[in-house]
Amino acid sequence: MSEDLITQILAAPDLPALEQLRVAALGKQGSITAMLKSLGSMDSETRAAEAPKVHARREAVSNALAERKQALEGAEMERRLATERVDLTLPVDDRPQGSVHPVSQVMDELAEIFADLGFAVAEGPEIEDQWHNFTALNMPETHPARAMHDTFYVNPRVEGEEPRVLRTHTSPVQIRAMQALGAPLRIIAPGRVYRSDSDATHTPMFHQIEGLVIDRAITLGHLKWTLETFLKAFFERDDVHIRMRPSYFPFTEPSAEVDVGWSIDKGRRVVGGSECWMEVLGSGMVHPRVIAACGLDPDEWQGFAFGTGVDRLAMLKYGMDDLRAFFDGDLRWLKHYGFSFLDVPTLSAGVGA
Ligand code: DAH
Repeated sequence: MSEDLITQILAAPDLPALEQLRVAALGKQGSITAMLKSLGSMDSETRAAEAPKVHARREAVSNALAERKQALEGAEMERRLATERVDLTLPVDDRPQGSVHPVSQVMDELAEIFADLGFAVAEGPEIEDQWHNFTALNMPETHPARAMHDTFYVNPRVEGEEPRVLRTHTSPVQIRAMQALGAPLRIIAPGRVYRSDSDATHTPMFHQIEGLVIDRAITLGHLKWTLETFLKAFFERDDVHIRMRPSYFPFTEPSAEVDVGWSIDKGRRVVGGSECWMEVLGSGMVHPRVIAACGLDPDEWQGFAFGTGVDRLAMLKYGMDDLRAFFDGDLRWLKHYGFSFLDVPTLSAGVGA
């Protein structure tokens, strides 16, 4: 019967079954306990012969119980390890991660400033056809400005088709907006542009923002006021001075390059005053040919336009000096110059909050 008991113990299916067997053998009413008790009623000779056997049996049963218990507990642990997982790779820091890139921040600031002046945001494709990027902007095929732009050309999908380009500026969005929305019109167009150029102040991809106003009786005075108002709001100071210099762009007539005054404060370049000048944007009165190319009558509609580099504006406002670092994706740089996405630009709180 005891051999049988040991076989049963070693085959116990689970811990409760094993416990039942333990009680049946070693409990108060257990079979082994009964055998131990019976030793007391034996005469000394019989007891001397029987006692070692009974003790050996108890020892064997105890050992079998311990062995089976360990095996069952081990199996139970394996099962729990297989079903219950704790993913230690999950971040324990539940604060928002990451930051807003200065370029995104500045584009949001510009959108906020121009929204207040009644400008909508317009968009166009980054892979553009040559008509929108050049021809409609008064740059016919033979125009030297096409070569000046260091254009990236895109292989045509169908042989014989005219190659498209990675847009070299945001000006084609002027054309698309006039075609889609007609006049009167007030838009800005922020976005990526591409030129085959790379050094400390040029990257092959960079960001521009375009502005366009089309209406009746628009003058250079409206352009100057708009630029002054925007630059004062953007740099968040009233002593921002601008200087307009005659220039040439194929799509504007007359054209002006706009400089902003700056000075040195505690060894740093700050916008304000008029000690030194730096060019920040191109602008002018929209060329009548551009208005006509979009199907509008240039005798009825006039307008002004401007274009500026967003990365450049970000560097000036927030004091970075190497443009290439903007696009390296270095986490230390992003942590240092990035913005919290809870700081949404508003004119009342300051657009650079
Ligand atoms: N598209 C010009 C460039 O990329 C910038 C520019 C100049 C835009 C004058 C304009 C403008 O709208 O009127 O260099």
